[in-house]
Amino acid sequence: MSTAEPILLTPGPLTTSARTRQAMMVDWGSWDDRFNQLTASLCEQLLAIVNGTDSHHCVPLQGSGTFAVEAAIGTLVPRDGKVLVLINGAYGKRLAKICEVLGRSFSTFESAEDEPTTAADVDRLLRADNSITHVALIHCETSTGILNPLPDIAQVIARHGKRLIIDAMSSFGALPIDARQVPFDALIAASGKCLEGVPGMGFVFASKSALANAAGNSHSLAMDLFDQHTYMARTGQWRFTPPTHVVAALHEALLQYNEEGGLPARHRRYASNCQVLLEEMSKLGLRSFLPASIQAPIIVTFHAPKDPRYQFKEFYERVKAKGYILYPGKLTQVETFRVGCIGHVNGIEMQAAVAAVAEVLREMEVLDI
Ligand SMILES: Cc1ncc(COP(=O)(O)O)c(C=O)c1O
Repeated sequence: MSTAEPILLTPGPLTTSARTRQAMMVDWGSWDDRFNQLTASLCEQLLAIVNGTDSHHCVPLQGSGTFAVEAAIGTLVPRDGKVLVLINGAYGKRLAKICEVLGRSFSTFESAEDEPTTAADVDRLLRADNSITHVALIHCETSTGILNPLPDIAQVIARHGKRLIIDAMSSFGALPIDARQVPFDALIAASGKCLEGVPGMGFVFASKSALANAAGNSHSLAMDLFDQHTYMARTGQWRFTPPTHVVAALHEALLQYNEEGGLPARHRRYASNCQVLLEEMSKLGLRSFLPASIQAPIIVTFHAPKDPRYQFKEFYERVKAKGYILYPGKLTQVETFRVGCIGHVNGIEMQAAVAAVAEVLREMEVLDI
């Protein structure tokens, strides 16, 4: 794969193809019919990835992923609703923070960062509190790379007659999610993750019936997905200035996604990247934080070497000088660093990145791994 230096092994922004970057060399007017067709085509293709065309609307939103998560909660949870937030990492904590800031009633269930939330946990929690209206879940918790068992949890929530909001930011496009089998009110993702676009827009797949009943829920003008959708459905245009170049890049990235073979092929490449990464790092003695059974092929958390000569900042700078950008750890109890498996990279780049890591550890004389 040909990429421009440096190679980002991060969970987004991530390495994009030259073709995707090239698509940003055109300026688009927001009133231009061709641009509006581009947006419509994008939404249609995004919905198709989750088989959601009949049941959901795709509502795009300017901003980073968190903007879309906040907009989804603000729009789809009524002001008298109550959210059960399932937490096993930093992004789950952020969901709770959003509920707090928006003034939505919520409770939390927190498990360890290396423990998936289970359907049995959710069943017990819903039995214990009938005032809960919505459950919010992170699919792949990017702070570690852990995968939560979405289909099982979704079935329990549906059985209880409650509504599900899924933050699938780092999994959508690579891990299968089928709206015909996994009932959800909202699934949220963004342009610069597994679809390999550039950052700048999020999108929410909102259940048609939930969205139809969401008028006036939102605390915010700009983040109101009901208004955003209604305006777009009526005019074909974004309500406020669209991220034109981001839309064009994502459209181009989706063409490549489909040429590659869609979700199964994307999943295969990332799973293979992840396997190469784990195997090559283990040859250096670097251990992953999660067992393989709960590791999503998205990002891997590694224990940092114990040697006092190891400092993340220096390690990061030296690996960067060799052309690879790693990611800091996000755990409070254990010192770690992370390496992404996603983006326009394949096994050859993963191997080369680990070779760079090995050279750097030798240069730093880090022995105690
Ligand atoms: C699971 C998850 N949720 C939310 C976000 C927040 O996205 P952003 O940093 O684009 O606001 C991220 C970012 O990586 C994420 O991985």
